[in-house]
Amino acid sequence: MIELDCTNVFEEAVGDSGIPSKTIEQAIDSSTKLIGQLENIRVAGNLGFADLPFSHDSVRSVETFARQRGSSHVLVVGIGGSALGPIAIDSALNSTGSGRRLWVLDNVDPDFIHDTLEQIDPHDVIVNVIAKSGVTAETMATFAIVRRWLIDAIGETEARSQFVVTTDPVRGDLLAIARQEGYPTFTIPENVGGRFSVLSPVGILPAALLGFNVEKLMEGARRGAVKARSPFWENPALTMAFIQWFLDQHRQKTILTLFPYSRSLWQFSFWYKQLWGESLGKKLDRQGREIFCGQTPTAVLGVTDQHSQLQLFIEGPNDKSFVFWRAKNFRNSLSIDDAFPECPSMTYFKGRDIAQLLAAEREATEIALTEVGRPNITISVDMVDEESFGELIMFCQYATAYAGEFYDVNAFDQPGVDYGKRLTFAMMERDGFAEYAPRVEAHRSRTRVVVR
Ligand code: PA5
Repeated sequence: MIELDCTNVFEEAVGDSGIPSKTIEQAIDSSTKLIGQLENIRVAGNLGFADLPFSHDSVRSVETFARQRGSSHVLVVGIGGSALGPIAIDSALNSTGSGRRLWVLDNVDPDFIHDTLEQIDPHDVIVNVIAKSGVTAETMATFAIVRRWLIDAIGETEARSQFVVTTDPVRGDLLAIARQEGYPTFTIPENVGGRFSVLSPVGILPAALLGFNVEKLMEGARRGAVKARSPFWENPALTMAFIQWFLDQHRQKTILTLFPYSRSLWQFSFWYKQLWGESLGKKLDRQGREIFCGQTPTAVLGVTDQHSQLQLFIEGPNDKSFVFWRAKNFRNSLSIDDAFPECPSMTYFKGRDIAQLLAAEREATEIALTEVGRPNITISVDMVDEESFGELIMFCQYATAYAGEFYDVNAFDQPGVDYGKRLTFAMMERDGFAEYAPRVEAHRSRTRVVVR
């Protein structure tokens, strides 16, 4: 079960950077309305992510497919919300003995694509092309390259049998191609957007192909969904949303620093960065007023980045709110060998497990930040496994949705990203996007200021 320790966000702990107790009391009073508000959005069918773990059919269908189509290599072609979820799940749950390996082509750097394909056995791979829109330039171009690579290696018929597509149920070229080529297809419900789609086939199909227990993942997510409808102090997602919104808007903590002390949660923080950043970084509120809101999410890894960024965090600008992510237990226990009893830098390890050092380092960082008035919370799970990870995913999605309510923005659109996509199409001369070409021209005709 997820625990959110928010001791260090109050004025008592961090002084002027903190939240006054009376403000929390007001938040508790108004939270019943907010919970009802989000629940109404869900009931109206506009909070698709929240219902995904209750769809038993989708779990059954990905599991059946995965049983029939086991391969050692699972290659995902996708980007943004169509890549970060599968990467986060794999990095959280995969262990060396699984015999399955996930590869993700989420970048059109030619060296990266070439070098990745070099490492994959074309006879033993299943390629999952994922795009909600079914038209994203990076994904469609990479798909064409991977398809050619596979055909050249194993022939057209064999190659065709190794693709599976995940996309929108009704629109997009990827759906049309899948039908034409006869690729098996999994769909993302229409009311589920890219970055909220990890519990749809976007995430659970690769998870099943990698041999993870998808039902357990969904069980955890269901628990998270139920929790997210509870009153304030029993609702970590709502509490998280309120704390971050308040710290951003009233204490100028405009940067949200995600600080996992579990290597398994490192990629998860990149998934969450997209979720928080793209959902809450908005120019307009729901009334159309310009508000330019949203914390900038960043990710650092404990303990590694203690030796890289912590100096800045403790003595640099007080503009950050910190979120520690902690696993209370690890899959492995590693006791530190008592080899050099004469060395003071090693004797104190005697009889200790390396996880104790990790825990001490995290707590030391927490104390150091709190002492200098830097608000921080700690989110703990018993252990990073399917169930707790599913709960964590749902917690983050609900926290983001609640934060959207506090900021009063649409957390589910991404006009900025869409605009960039349209400019790319115009530059690549895709039909239907010529109206954006003058903007590209205007930009290019500006006198360049270049230093060599
Ligand atoms: O959250 C979003 O909608 C975006 O970040 C998308 O995930 C990203 O742009 C990729 O889109 P698509 O899945 O359509 O290829």
